[in-house]
Amino acid sequence: MNKRIDRRSFLKRSSGLLAAASLPLSLIEIAFGKGSTDNFTFAYLSDSHITHIKGNKFVHNWDRGLIRAVAEANLMDPKPDFVFYGGDIAQLGKPEEIDHGLEILSGLTPNVHYVMGEHDYYVDLGEYWKKRLGPDYYGFDHKGVHFIVLNSILTYEAWMHGKWDSGMQRMLQMARLDNPQGSPFMVGDRQREWLKKDLEKVSRETPIVVFSHSPLQKIYKGWNFWTEDAEQIQALLKPFSKVTVIYGHVHQIQYNQIGNISFNSAMATAWPWPYPSTYKQTDSLLPKLTVEMNRADPFFERDATGWQFINIHSGNVELHYLLPNNRNRIVAFDAEAGAPVDAKHQKMAKRTAAQTHY
Ligand SMILES: [Fe+2]
Ligand SMILES: [Fe+2]
Repeated sequence: MNKRIDRRSFLKRSSGLLAAASLPLSLIEIAFGKGSTDNFTFAYLSDSHITHIKGNKFVHNWDRGLIRAVAEANLMDPKPDFVFYGGDIAQLGKPEEIDHGLEILSGLTPNVHYVMGEHDYYVDLGEYWKKRLGPDYYGFDHKGVHFIVLNSILTYEAWMHGKWDSGMQRMLQMARLDNPQGSPFMVGDRQREWLKKDLEKVSRETPIVVFSHSPLQKIYKGWNFWTEDAEQIQALLKPFSKVTVIYGHVHQIQYNQIGNISFNSAMATAWPWPYPSTYKQTDSLLPKLTVEMNRADPFFERDATGWQFINIHSGNVELHYLLPNNRNRIVAFDAEAGAPVDAKHQKMAKRTAAQTHY
Protein backbone atom coordinates (compact mmCIF):
# COMPACT_ATOMS: atom_id res chain seq x y z
CA MET A 1 0.00 0.00 0.00
CA ASN A 2 2.21 2.81 -1.21
CA LYS A 3 -0.43 5.42 -1.97
CA ARG A 4 -1.17 8.01 0.56
CA ILE A 5 -4.75 7.63 1.68
CA ASP A 6 -5.89 11.04 2.74
CA ARG A 7 -8.35 11.21 5.56
CA ARG A 8 -11.20 12.59 3.50
CA SER A 9 -11.08 9.83 0.91
CA PHE A 10 -10.44 7.27 3.62
CA LEU A 11 -13.53 8.35 5.48
CA LYS A 12 -15.52 8.69 2.28
CA ARG A 13 -14.63 5.19 1.26
CA SER A 14 -15.42 3.95 4.72
CA SER A 15 -18.58 5.93 5.24
CA GLY A 16 -20.92 3.19 4.07
CA LEU A 17 -19.32 0.83 6.45
CA LEU A 18 -19.32 3.41 9.22
CA ALA A 19 -23.00 4.01 8.79
CA ALA A 20 -23.75 0.31 8.81
CA ALA A 21 -21.45 -0.84 11.50
CA SER A 22 -22.16 -0.63 15.19
CA LEU A 23 -19.23 -2.45 16.56
CA PRO A 24 -16.72 -1.99 19.31
CA LEU A 25 -13.50 -2.07 17.39
CA SER A 26 -11.12 0.58 16.23
CA LEU A 27 -9.72 1.07 12.80
CA ILE A 28 -6.53 2.99 12.91
CA GLU A 29 -4.95 4.76 9.99
CA ILE A 30 -1.39 5.89 10.05
CA ALA A 31 -1.06 8.79 7.64
CA PHE A 32 2.08 10.84 7.84
CA GLY A 33 1.52 13.20 4.99
CA LYS A 34 4.64 14.88 3.56
CA GLY A 35 7.67 12.70 3.39
CA SER A 36 5.86 9.58 4.38
CA THR A 37 6.34 6.43 2.43
CA ASP A 38 3.65 4.25 3.86
CA ASN A 39 0.14 4.62 5.16
CA PHE A 40 -1.57 1.80 6.88
CA THR A 41 -4.49 0.94 9.05
CA PHE A 42 -5.05 -1.29 11.99
CA ALA A 43 -8.07 -2.15 14.06
CA TYR A 44 -8.50 -2.07 17.82
CA LEU A 45 -10.86 -4.24 19.86
CA SER A 46 -10.97 -4.30 23.63
CA ASP A 47 -12.65 -5.45 26.84
CA SER A 48 -14.91 -8.29 25.73
CA HIS A 49 -15.18 -9.83 29.21
CA ILE A 50 -16.21 -13.26 27.91
CA THR A 51 -18.08 -14.78 30.84
CA HIS A 52 -18.38 -18.52 31.40
CA ILE A 53 -21.62 -19.77 32.94
CA LYS A 54 -21.18 -23.54 32.88
CA GLY A 55 -20.42 -26.26 30.35
CA ASN A 56 -20.39 -24.59 26.96
CA LYS A 57 -22.63 -21.70 28.07
CA PHE A 58 -21.32 -18.14 28.06
CA VAL A 59 -23.02 -14.79 28.63
CA HIS A 60 -24.61 -14.18 25.26
CA ASN A 61 -24.43 -10.39 25.21
CA TRP A 62 -20.66 -10.22 25.70
CA ASP A 63 -20.11 -12.97 23.10
CA ARG A 64 -22.16 -11.02 20.57
CA GLY A 65 -20.12 -7.86 21.01
CA LEU A 66 -16.90 -9.65 20.15
CA ILE A 67 -18.37 -11.77 17.34
CA ARG A 68 -19.70 -8.67 15.60
CA ALA A 69 -16.42 -6.81 16.04
CA VAL A 70 -14.49 -9.66 14.45
CA ALA A 71 -16.92 -9.85 11.54
CA GLU A 72 -16.66 -6.13 10.86
CA ALA A 73 -12.88 -6.04 11.22
CA ASN A 74 -12.66 -8.61 8.45
CA LEU A 75 -14.80 -6.39 6.20
CA MET A 76 -12.76 -3.22 6.68
CA ASP A 77 -11.59 -1.38 3.58
CA PRO A 78 -8.75 -0.54 3.51
CA LYS A 79 -7.85 -3.81 5.11
CA PRO A 80 -6.10 -3.28 8.45
CA ASP A 81 -2.48 -4.41 8.60
CA PHE A 82 -3.12 -5.94 12.02
CA VAL A 83 -5.45 -5.83 14.96
CA PHE A 84 -4.79 -4.84 18.56
CA TYR A 85 -6.73 -6.46 21.33
CA GLY A 86 -6.67 -4.17 24.38
CA GLY A 87 -7.17 -6.65 27.24
CA ASP A 88 -9.89 -8.22 29.41
CA ILE A 89 -10.75 -11.03 26.99
CA ALA A 90 -12.07 -12.91 30.03
CA GLN A 91 -14.23 -11.87 32.95
CA LEU A 92 -12.56 -14.04 35.60
CA GLY A 93 -9.49 -15.29 33.74
CA LYS A 94 -10.83 -18.83 33.43
CA PRO A 95 -9.22 -20.98 30.71
CA GLU A 96 -12.72 -21.60 29.31
CA GLU A 97 -13.19 -17.84 28.90
CA ILE A 98 -9.78 -17.21 27.36
CA ASP A 99 -10.21 -20.19 25.00
CA HIS A 100 -13.69 -19.09 23.98
CA GLY A 101 -12.60 -15.49 23.41
CA LEU A 102 -9.57 -16.59 21.39
CA GLU A 103 -11.71 -18.93 19.34
CA ILE A 104 -13.89 -15.98 18.35
CA LEU A 105 -10.81 -13.81 17.72
CA SER A 106 -9.26 -16.57 15.58
CA GLY A 107 -11.85 -15.58 12.97
CA LEU A 108 -9.86 -12.41 12.31
CA THR A 109 -7.97 -12.45 9.04
CA PRO A 110 -5.18 -10.07 10.14
CA ASN A 111 -2.59 -10.89 12.76
CA VAL A 112 -3.55 -9.88 16.32
CA HIS A 113 -1.37 -8.26 19.01
CA TYR A 114 -2.59 -8.73 22.55
CA VAL A 115 -2.51 -6.62 25.72
CA MET A 116 -3.00 -8.18 29.17
CA GLY A 117 -6.01 -7.05 31.23
CA GLU A 118 -6.52 -7.58 34.93
CA HIS A 119 -9.48 -9.87 34.25
CA ASP A 120 -7.13 -12.11 32.26
CA TYR A 121 -4.46 -12.08 34.94
CA TYR A 122 -5.38 -12.32 38.60
CA VAL A 123 -6.77 -15.85 38.85
CA ASP A 124 -3.43 -17.48 37.92
CA LEU A 125 -1.13 -14.46 37.57
CA GLY A 126 -1.34 -14.61 33.80
CA GLU A 127 -0.15 -18.18 33.40
CA TYR A 128 -2.85 -19.42 31.04
CA TRP A 129 -2.97 -16.20 29.01
CA LYS A 130 0.81 -16.35 28.46
CA LYS A 131 0.61 -20.04 27.57
CA ARG A 132 -1.86 -19.18 24.81
CA LEU A 133 -0.49 -15.81 23.69
CA GLY A 134 3.16 -15.46 24.70
CA PRO A 135 4.90 -12.45 26.25
CA ASP A 136 2.82 -9.75 27.93
CA TYR A 137 5.20 -6.92 27.04
CA TYR A 138 7.01 -6.34 23.75
CA GLY A 139 7.77 -3.83 21.05
CA PHE A 140 7.95 -3.81 17.28
CA ASP A 141 8.31 -1.43 14.35
CA HIS A 142 5.82 -1.13 11.57
CA LYS A 143 6.13 1.26 8.62
CA GLY A 144 7.92 3.99 10.54
CA VAL A 145 6.02 3.72 13.84
CA HIS A 146 7.42 2.15 16.99
CA PHE A 147 4.78 0.17 18.87
CA ILE A 148 5.12 -0.78 22.51
CA VAL A 149 2.88 -3.07 24.54
CA LEU A 150 3.08 -2.99 28.32
CA ASN A 151 1.42 -5.07 30.99
CA SER A 152 0.21 -2.24 33.21
CA ILE A 153 -2.07 -4.25 35.52
CA LEU A 154 0.56 -5.77 37.82
CA THR A 155 0.55 -4.78 41.47
CA TYR A 156 2.68 -5.05 44.62
CA GLU A 157 4.23 -8.52 45.08
CA ALA A 158 3.02 -8.64 48.68
CA TRP A 159 -0.59 -8.24 47.54
CA MET A 160 -0.28 -10.69 44.64
CA HIS A 161 1.27 -13.39 46.78
CA GLY A 162 -0.70 -12.50 49.89
CA LYS A 163 -3.16 -14.26 52.07
CA TRP A 164 -5.51 -15.56 49.38
CA ASP A 165 -7.37 -18.84 49.83
CA SER A 166 -7.40 -19.22 46.06
CA GLY A 167 -6.52 -17.45 42.85
CA MET A 168 -10.20 -16.87 42.24
CA GLN A 169 -10.53 -15.04 45.56
CA ARG A 170 -7.69 -12.75 44.46
CA MET A 171 -9.35 -12.27 41.04
CA LEU A 172 -12.68 -11.33 42.59
CA GLN A 173 -11.01 -8.79 44.86
CA MET A 174 -9.29 -7.13 41.91
CA ALA A 175 -12.51 -7.13 39.88
CA ARG A 176 -14.37 -5.00 42.43
CA LEU A 177 -14.70 -1.23 42.22
CA ASP A 178 -14.17 0.96 45.28
CA ASN A 179 -12.61 -1.97 47.10
CA PRO A 180 -10.48 -1.00 50.10
CA GLN A 181 -8.93 -4.50 49.95
CA GLY A 182 -7.80 -3.90 46.35
CA SER A 183 -4.39 -2.75 45.17
CA PRO A 184 -3.30 -0.21 42.55
CA PHE A 185 -2.03 -1.29 39.14
CA MET A 186 1.55 -0.76 38.05
CA VAL A 187 3.99 -1.61 35.28
CA GLY A 188 6.82 -2.36 37.70
CA ASP A 189 10.62 -2.23 37.76
CA ARG A 190 11.29 -5.07 35.33
CA GLN A 191 9.22 -3.69 32.47
CA ARG A 192 10.37 -0.13 33.08
CA GLU A 193 13.95 -1.36 32.80
CA TRP A 194 13.03 -3.15 29.56
CA LEU A 195 11.23 -0.04 28.26
CA LYS A 196 14.27 2.12 28.95
CA LYS A 197 16.47 -0.25 26.92
CA ASP A 198 13.89 -0.61 24.14
CA LEU A 199 13.63 3.18 23.76
CA GLU A 200 17.40 3.56 23.46
CA LYS A 201 17.08 2.08 19.95
CA VAL A 202 14.40 4.54 18.84
CA SER A 203 15.10 7.94 17.29
CA ARG A 204 13.52 10.95 19.00
CA GLU A 205 11.49 11.77 15.89
CA THR A 206 9.94 8.33 15.46
CA PRO A 207 6.25 8.36 16.40
CA ILE A 208 5.65 6.05 19.34
CA VAL A 209 2.34 4.39 20.12
CA VAL A 210 2.10 2.69 23.49
CA PHE A 211 -0.66 0.24 24.33
CA SER A 212 -1.53 -0.48 27.92
CA HIS A 213 -4.65 -1.82 29.56
CA SER A 214 -4.95 0.71 32.37
CA PRO A 215 -4.26 4.37 31.63
CA LEU A 216 -0.58 5.31 32.07
CA GLN A 217 -1.81 8.34 34.01
CA LYS A 218 -3.59 8.75 37.33
CA ILE A 219 -7.29 9.34 36.88
CA TYR A 220 -9.34 7.64 39.58
CA LYS A 221 -7.79 5.31 42.10
CA GLY A 222 -10.95 3.76 43.50
CA TRP A 223 -11.73 2.14 40.16
CA ASN A 224 -8.11 1.53 39.21
CA PHE A 225 -8.33 4.08 36.40
CA TRP A 226 -4.79 4.51 37.58
CA THR A 227 -1.22 3.24 37.15
CA GLU A 228 0.93 3.66 40.24
CA ASP A 229 4.23 4.25 38.38
CA ALA A 230 2.65 6.37 35.62
CA GLU A 231 5.01 9.32 36.14
CA GLN A 232 8.08 7.13 35.81
CA ILE A 233 6.85 5.76 32.48
CA GLN A 234 5.92 9.25 31.29
CA ALA A 235 9.48 10.36 32.15
CA LEU A 236 10.95 7.58 29.97
CA LEU A 237 8.74 8.69 27.07
CA LYS A 238 9.44 12.39 27.55
CA PRO A 239 12.38 12.79 25.13
CA PHE A 240 10.31 11.71 22.13
CA SER A 241 8.49 14.23 19.98
CA LYS A 242 5.30 12.27 19.29
CA VAL A 243 3.95 9.84 21.82
CA THR A 244 0.45 8.45 22.08
CA VAL A 245 -0.88 6.09 24.72
CA ILE A 246 -4.01 4.14 23.81
CA TYR A 247 -5.68 2.17 26.57
CA GLY A 248 -8.77 0.09 27.29
CA HIS A 249 -10.03 -0.83 30.77
CA VAL A 250 -12.12 2.30 31.37
CA HIS A 251 -14.92 1.35 28.91
CA GLN A 252 -15.57 5.07 28.24
CA ILE A 253 -14.22 7.99 26.26
CA GLN A 254 -11.31 9.79 27.89
CA TYR A 255 -8.61 12.02 26.45
CA ASN A 256 -5.83 14.02 27.94
CA GLN A 257 -2.41 15.54 27.27
CA ILE A 258 0.50 15.44 29.68
CA GLY A 259 3.57 17.16 28.22
CA ASN A 260 4.46 15.40 24.96
CA ILE A 261 2.09 12.46 25.55
CA SER A 262 -1.45 12.24 24.22
CA PHE A 263 -3.74 9.84 26.03
CA ASN A 264 -6.77 8.27 24.39
CA SER A 265 -9.07 5.54 25.62
CA ALA A 266 -11.08 3.08 23.54
CA MET A 267 -14.55 1.68 24.09
CA ALA A 268 -15.33 -1.88 25.19
CA THR A 269 -17.13 -4.53 23.17
CA ALA A 270 -18.93 -5.63 26.36
CA TRP A 271 -20.47 -2.74 28.35
CA PRO A 272 -19.82 0.91 29.29
CA TRP A 273 -18.61 2.02 32.68
CA PRO A 274 -20.25 5.21 33.89
CA TYR A 275 -17.98 8.14 34.56
CA PRO A 276 -16.66 8.09 38.13
CA SER A 277 -18.38 10.64 40.34
CA THR A 278 -15.22 12.68 40.46
CA TYR A 279 -11.89 12.83 38.68
CA LYS A 280 -10.51 15.06 41.40
CA GLN A 281 -8.03 12.53 42.72
CA THR A 282 -5.78 13.08 39.76
CA ASP A 283 -2.91 15.55 39.80
CA SER A 284 -3.07 16.03 36.04
CA LEU A 285 -6.72 16.80 35.57
CA LEU A 286 -8.46 15.37 32.57
CA PRO A 287 -10.27 18.00 30.54
CA LYS A 288 -13.66 18.67 31.99
CA LEU A 289 -16.16 16.38 30.32
CA THR A 290 -18.24 18.49 27.99
CA VAL A 291 -20.76 15.86 26.98
CA GLU A 292 -21.36 12.81 29.07
CA MET A 293 -21.47 9.48 27.34
CA ASN A 294 -24.99 8.15 27.13
CA ARG A 295 -25.79 5.56 29.76
CA ALA A 296 -26.46 1.99 28.78
CA ASP A 297 -29.96 1.22 27.63
CA PRO A 298 -30.91 -2.18 29.08
CA PHE A 299 -33.17 -2.80 26.08
CA PHE A 300 -30.36 -2.27 23.60
CA GLU A 301 -27.46 -4.52 24.38
CA ARG A 302 -24.86 -2.67 22.32
CA ASP A 303 -25.67 0.76 23.71
CA ALA A 304 -22.67 2.82 24.82
CA THR A 305 -20.24 0.33 23.40
CA GLY A 306 -18.45 1.51 20.32
CA TRP A 307 -15.59 1.35 17.92
CA GLN A 308 -13.16 3.87 16.59
CA PHE A 309 -11.25 4.86 13.53
CA ILE A 310 -7.94 6.20 14.66
CA ASN A 311 -5.88 8.25 12.23
CA ILE A 312 -2.37 9.30 13.02
CA HIS A 313 -1.32 12.44 11.20
CA SER A 314 2.37 13.23 11.62
CA GLY A 315 2.29 11.16 14.75
CA ASN A 316 -0.81 12.78 16.25
CA VAL A 317 -3.87 10.70 16.89
CA GLU A 318 -7.43 11.31 15.76
CA LEU A 319 -10.00 8.95 17.20
CA HIS A 320 -13.33 8.50 15.50
CA TYR A 321 -15.74 6.91 17.93
CA LEU A 322 -18.63 5.14 16.28
CA LEU A 323 -21.24 4.59 18.94
CA PRO A 324 -24.28 2.46 18.25
CA ASN A 325 -27.49 4.27 19.12
CA ASN A 326 -25.49 7.32 20.19
CA ARG A 327 -24.03 10.31 18.42
CA ASN A 328 -20.60 9.65 17.01
CA ARG A 329 -17.71 11.50 18.58
CA ILE A 330 -14.31 12.58 17.31
CA VAL A 331 -11.41 13.24 19.63
CA ALA A 332 -8.51 14.73 17.71
CA PHE A 333 -5.17 16.28 18.56
CA ASP A 334 -5.48 20.04 18.20
CA ALA A 335 -2.16 21.78 17.57
CA GLU A 336 -3.48 25.11 18.90
CA ALA A 337 -4.70 23.61 22.15
CA GLY A 338 -1.69 21.28 22.28
CA ALA A 339 -4.01 18.51 23.40
CA PRO A 340 -6.70 16.18 22.15
CA VAL A 341 -10.07 17.90 21.97
CA ASP A 342 -13.56 16.71 21.18
CA ALA A 343 -14.07 17.82 17.59
CA LYS A 344 -17.80 17.23 17.70
CA HIS A 345 -18.00 19.81 20.44
CA GLN A 346 -14.95 21.69 19.29
CA LYS A 347 -15.81 25.16 20.57
CA MET A 348 -16.83 24.01 24.00
CA ALA A 349 -13.84 21.72 24.25
CA LYS A 350 -11.46 24.49 23.17
CA ARG A 351 -12.90 26.81 25.78
CA THR A 352 -12.38 24.10 28.35
CA ALA A 353 -8.83 23.51 27.17
CA ALA A 354 -8.09 27.22 27.53
CA GLN A 355 -9.23 27.09 31.13
CA THR A 356 -7.40 23.92 31.98
CA HIS A 357 -3.75 23.48 32.74
CA TYR A 358 -2.48 20.40 31.04
FE1 LIG B 1 -12.58 -4.18 31.09
FE1 LIG C 1 -9.71 -3.96 32.92
